[in-house]
Amino acid sequence: MEVTTTVLSRREHFARVGSTNDVVRDWLASGTPEVCLAVADEQTAGRGRDGRTWLAPPGAALLLSLGFRPTWLAPDFVWRLPAVVSLAMARAAEEVIGAAAQTVRLKWPNDLMIDGRKVAGVLGESVGLGTDDPRVIVGIGINVNWPRDDFPADLADTMTSLLEAAGGRRIDFEGLLDGFIATVEGAIDGLRSGDFDAGDWKARQLTTDRVVELHGPAGAVDLVHAVDVDAQTGALVVRADGRERSVFSGEIRHLRVAPPERAV
Ligand code: BTN
Repeated sequence: MEVTTTVLSRREHFARVGSTNDVVRDWLASGTPEVCLAVADEQTAGRGRDGRTWLAPPGAALLLSLGFRPTWLAPDFVWRLPAVVSLAMARAAEEVIGAAAQTVRLKWPNDLMIDGRKVAGVLGESVGLGTDDPRVIVGIGINVNWPRDDFPADLADTMTSLLEAAGGRRIDFEGLLDGFIATVEGAIDGLRSGDFDAGDWKARQLTTDRVVELHGPAGAVDLVHAVDVDAQTGALVVRADGRERSVFSGEIRHLRVAPPERAV
């Protein structure tokens, strides 16, 4: 059963596509109004951040992208689109696995984590920000009915799935998707009137008060103390050498939470 939506202008479910982000980007380019949603059971060219590929066996993950035309959102606040997608998926995931609120944490900027392992990743892309035709695509892939025994060997220690988090109980994809849509629609309506749940966004951050490694584009690794996130700019607030500064997601390739024994 499909939920009745007030925000979605177009919604399609594909058995197999290259990348749902590309599907939505093409829709926006050919005039589809916001907010459009593409869902896929399988991607043959799934992309992650920083040029990485995003792989999931068919039917193991919920793969989707939302397309926006955020003329109603100042470019400085566009980071809130992936943030509300992350928050909505975190809440929908907690609902389907029967977990307490804030069991799903965020690893800045937008990884979803359970018990310190990555369960979902978000890829935000944009075209024409700052023009009168801004387009933003937010894609999310969340590992759902993917058993640990089938995890790729190189990721097995750092990833998880909702199936594992639910103690092996199979997850209802449609229930997860419906919960996500209902929540994200409310959050998008909120954003349109200037509301953003900064409290939940801050409370879920895994990095706050932890030592983290910031991996820069040229390979340099900066060890800093993450003290907070900034709900106005979307930045990670870090302290190093007695000085606080803001780190923006475009400045780094990767963030890793350092083992407890590391000190700044
Ligand atoms: C990351 O953690 O590196 C981001 C991963 C984003 C993956 C999703 S799956 C749906 C959408 N389509 C893509 O090609 N990528 C995103």
